[in-house]
Amino acid sequence: MLQDGFGRRIDYLRLSVTDRCDLRCSYCMPKHFKDFEEPAHWLSFDEIERLLSVFARLGLKRIRLTGGEPLLRKDLPELVRRLAALPGIDDLSLSTNGTQLAKHAARLRQAGVSRLNVSLDSLDRDTLHRLTGRDVLAQVLAGLEAARGAGFRAIKINMVATTGLSERDVDAMVAFCADRGFVLRLIETMPLGEAGRSAGFVDLQPIRARLRERFGLVDGVVPGGGPARYLVSPDRRVQIGFITPISQHFCATCNRVRLSVDGRLHLCLGQETAVDFRSLLRGGASQAQLAEHIGQALLRRPERHEFRERPGRTVRIMSSIGG
Ligand code: GTP
Ligand code: 5AD
Ligand code: SF4
Repeated sequence: MLQDGFGRRIDYLRLSVTDRCDLRCSYCMPKHFKDFEEPAHWLSFDEIERLLSVFARLGLKRIRLTGGEPLLRKDLPELVRRLAALPGIDDLSLSTNGTQLAKHAARLRQAGVSRLNVSLDSLDRDTLHRLTGRDVLAQVLAGLEAARGAGFRAIKINMVATTGLSERDVDAMVAFCADRGFVLRLIETMPLGEAGRSAGFVDLQPIRARLRERFGLVDGVVPGGGPARYLVSPDRRVQIGFITPISQHFCATCNRVRLSVDGRLHLCLGQETAVDFRSLLRGGASQAQLAEHIGQALLRRPERHEFRERPGRTVRIMSSIGG
């Protein structure tokens, strides 16, 4: 049984397959960051499969592939195929920045990714360039079109709210998503590392109230494993999720852990508590030993993040853990 010391069931694992990224989003990675994990420390596909098969036997239901940018990991569809075949895993999803999606969408769908979340913080070319450090709007839009044609069960757009976000930006994104059948999610910036702390926090509660009124939205349910709470229009053309770790945190219902590319199991996004599994895997630990260590690790899960009380607590940057 995957349960932590506070009685929370853990059925969702976020697997970071690389800490590298082709963008430099201002809230995520410092501009000249170079301190990436050495390839010798990356878990191999065999090591990932061994560890996640133990999680699956203990009751894991959902896996999400993250980065950095996961599509930079070579042969990702091969890993997807292996993870999709694990007994008990009924939700295999991917979070991407979309720059390489045009090339990869169809193969990822065929390999077994059923749901896709794509970062897109603005539909204005210059604004997106400023936020991500590269002129990528056309590339991401082409990626989204390819994804629409590939038959994913759901495509969600992740829009991180940073200072300077205007009503016009938000309304343009609402219309863009409604026209294409995408679910929009607005996300409060978390103070992870210097990049996250300097990006500026926007409280989503007033934005949520305005959108509810403007589009006649009501509370609704949208499939997924994460912390978003949704408003939808009665005809469900508009579906907007709000991820509010700062203004209204959701730690009491947290169902997830994170495995970084170096094989550390991180027990909370907002705390540094982590347990190394790479040395266990490379030391030849048996399935029973891995299961025992997973159980012990879960008992070390912190109760909650302290983004408000201690914003300087996490030195790790977002891209090293995948959100
Ligand atoms: P769904 O399964 O579609 O609900 O996906 P998700 O929201 O779990 O995944 P995604 O990678 O799209 O993450 C969206 C945002 O939620 C990112 O900014 C994540 O950092 C944030 N997020 C996900 N899990 C947690 C969490 O446990 N704590 C906090 N504070 N933020 C989280
Ligand atoms: N705060 C909130 N969300 C963030 N992401 C990256 N950095 C931050 C941050 N500091 C989001 C990305 C991506 C998701 C996986 O995490 O926009 O959509
Ligand atoms: Fe890269 Fe995603 Fe971080 Fe942006 S949010 S720098 S796309 S890992």
